[in-house]
Amino acid sequence: MPTLIIDGKEIDVKPGTSIMEAAKLLGIYIPHFCYHPKLPIAGNCRMCLVEVEKMPKPVISCAMPVSEGMVVKTDSPMVRTARKGVMEFLLINHPLDCPVCDQGGECTLQDLAMKYGPDRSRFHDHKREVPNHDLGPLIETEMNRCIHCTRCIRFSEDVSGVEQMGAVYRGDHMTVGPFVETFLDSELTGNLAEICPVGALNFKPFHFQARGWEFKHADGVCAHCSVGCHTRLDHLDGRILRVMARGWDAGNESWLCDKGRFAIDGLREGRLEEPRARAVNGVVQQKVSWPEALDRAAAVLKSVKPEEVAGLASDAIQGGEELFAFQDFLRNVVGTPHVDHRLRQRDFSGDEQALTRADLLMNTPLVELAGADAIVLVGFDPRFETPLLNFRLRRAAQAGARVVSIHARQLNSNIPGLTSILVTPGGEPTLLGQILLGLDGEAPGGDAGMVAALLKGAKKPVVLLGGQAILHPEAETLRRLAVAILDKLGAIGPGWNGFNRVAARGNAAAAQDLGVVPHRGPGYTRLERVGMNATAILEAAAEGRIKVLFLMGVDPTEEALDRDLARRALEKARVIHLGAYGCEAARVAEVVLAGLAPGEKSMTLTNCEGRVQHSARAGNGPLEAKEDWRILRGLSDRFAAPLGYNDLEALRKRLAASDHRYDFARLGPGETPRACDHSPVTKGLPVTVRPVEQASGIHLVLESCLYRDDPVTWRSPVMSRLARDGRLRIHPDDAKGLAIVQDGLVRVLQGEKRVELRAELDARIPLGVVFGDFGQGEHSPRELCDDARGHGRVSLVALPG
Ligand code: SF4
Ligand code: SF4
Ligand code: FES
Repeated sequence: MPTLIIDGKEIDVKPGTSIMEAAKLLGIYIPHFCYHPKLPIAGNCRMCLVEVEKMPKPVISCAMPVSEGMVVKTDSPMVRTARKGVMEFLLINHPLDCPVCDQGGECTLQDLAMKYGPDRSRFHDHKREVPNHDLGPLIETEMNRCIHCTRCIRFSEDVSGVEQMGAVYRGDHMTVGPFVETFLDSELTGNLAEICPVGALNFKPFHFQARGWEFKHADGVCAHCSVGCHTRLDHLDGRILRVMARGWDAGNESWLCDKGRFAIDGLREGRLEEPRARAVNGVVQQKVSWPEALDRAAAVLKSVKPEEVAGLASDAIQGGEELFAFQDFLRNVVGTPHVDHRLRQRDFSGDEQALTRADLLMNTPLVELAGADAIVLVGFDPRFETPLLNFRLRRAAQAGARVVSIHARQLNSNIPGLTSILVTPGGEPTLLGQILLGLDGEAPGGDAGMVAALLKGAKKPVVLLGGQAILHPEAETLRRLAVAILDKLGAIGPGWNGFNRVAARGNAAAAQDLGVVPHRGPGYTRLERVGMNATAILEAAAEGRIKVLFLMGVDPTEEALDRDLARRALEKARVIHLGAYGCEAARVAEVVLAGLAPGEKSMTLTNCEGRVQHSARAGNGPLEAKEDWRILRGLSDRFAAPLGYNDLEALRKRLAASDHRYDFARLGPGETPRACDHSPVTKGLPVTVRPVEQASGIHLVLESCLYRDDPVTWRSPVMSRLARDGRLRIHPDDAKGLAIVQDGLVRVLQGEKRVELRAELDARIPLGVVFGDFGQGEHSPRELCDDARGHGRVSLVALPG
């Protein structure tokens, strides 16, 4: 460990540490532009010059590793003169348009110019003029302000893996921008504007909305996928106007994906503004007072037997508090066991086992994924399901890990060296079964043999089950096979646990933990009365056996896999809708209870690793909307045994009592909730692999669209510009054979059912298979979910227009 002295203070640091980092450890700030702690070192701005004893010239501290006995001065006359020179050069071509720059007030160049820059310029020539670029709907450019720090270029190459940004020419002719004049094709684009130290790259949706110094800040956690990235919510006058990354080394480091950053405009669209109810036997909803709305909702719930009531909740944007209160209210106040959140799930056979938290969440912490050496993705598209988890997999691959994808299509991946194994939709268990045989020494050859050999040779193997695996018609078989494979490898243990099930919805883990499932109570407790699962609830509602549907934050016609079934259920049952957004379910509801959206309430979110986190309130919702758990509490007052918590603190104590991982009070000072705080994975469950049923027609596979997968993003105008959802993706050769053209209209038929979608030709889709999105609106392929709850078979007809 070299020892050095910086500004008279002695420090020991690890070999290879730069002077800049050593100074940081001592709390000494060295001014810089191109250095970023999470990017490779470029050493090109020269702003970080320091004086090192026995060296004749100033040295760049970000790139110079420390050595034993070094004596460094960060603020000597030599250093100040050098910095002044660097600033003078930088300001020669900078437009100095701070009054009209979005970065004004939070610009490193502005701050350092005030400290080290000259008060007037000796340069009297014309300033350089650099053309701007249209980088798409997220980034506004003003390239005259660029100081060539290359942070954006290094980010594109190293972190996002989409190498579209670069520099051309040299010296004062150097210009930074996309190599080809095109929109940036990355899900991490917004980070470019966040790391640009000047106002060359700005957030387009935020352009000219506010100045940095006007904001108040709140510590948020992103609810748009299960990574749970740490955010800083910048809010002004009760509105969240900007979302920035909050550093979290064990999670998102310094980055956010574009959904987490830019979907905030969806918070304000299509809101339920007030409680509403239908007049008795009436069809028109009217605004009512809160007491009247709660009285009406209680009357509806009491008008039927308790077991004729069922509750469905969203696992996307509901907080842990309201999920807990929801099941508590339905089970213990109303008296029904029918509660669930898994509207898209096909296979509920796992409910029959007492599965543990470790069986349902991740067991490899995000931060440790980068240390894996063999990674198998099963039905998982990490880049477009959980972008900042994908970043960890990229890091693993950069460090030499082999990554294999088992999926019904090729992934649009930025993971270096990814090997793609295509399976027939539904055929994943067959392949995993063969891999298991391969581990037993029964060499199956082919793809299965290759994966078996890869896993056998790995020290830290990992299997990640993603969206297609969790929603698979034989999801439980797949899960057991993944466990069996890793168990055989000895990779499920205290030293290394490579089994991971990654549900992408923002708070799916909390819904599991807090008992929003029909067969388990909060904290994975067994129940005496087991209720119906989400599909059975909708079927019972459609048949009139469930008479009241209590919905929290969810519209079954937007969420359920079988849309037709959801529609029939809503037509037949009486509906109470509690939520933040207007939707079909709210439109048909007898009582509408207006709740709050993420960012408008303090909420608990549990990420894919099972890490429990609190997200602060930053903005205001509609004046008359209320926190969802408070609505449930008020509603429970109309029953014999009301809920036993009157404030957030008391409710959180109940959460903590039901599951110790929700108990923040047990944490010591500076401690945070742990990732993967659960064990063990259930091993040894029997597995039967059934062959894929042969049927005629083209396979239709449904999947989520990153930018359109929860009630906020569905309503976000910015997300609608990014998404190419509502399309049918088909291989160009299949399209050619059916006379289908790019963007052409296609009729998709399944028996009597039909939808019309625009075609997108995509060579990554295998022949004989088409992919559609879960999709909202009139033309969702969910209309075509077949009765067997497998992957639908369809036929296609090209239409004119
Ligand atoms: Fe640096 Fe910004 Fe220029 Fe990129 S655009 S090189 S981040 S100043
Ligand atoms: Fe939010 Fe997920 Fe994106 Fe992180 S990766 S910012 S949690 S949507
Ligand atoms: Fe060291 Fe730019 S920060 S050269």
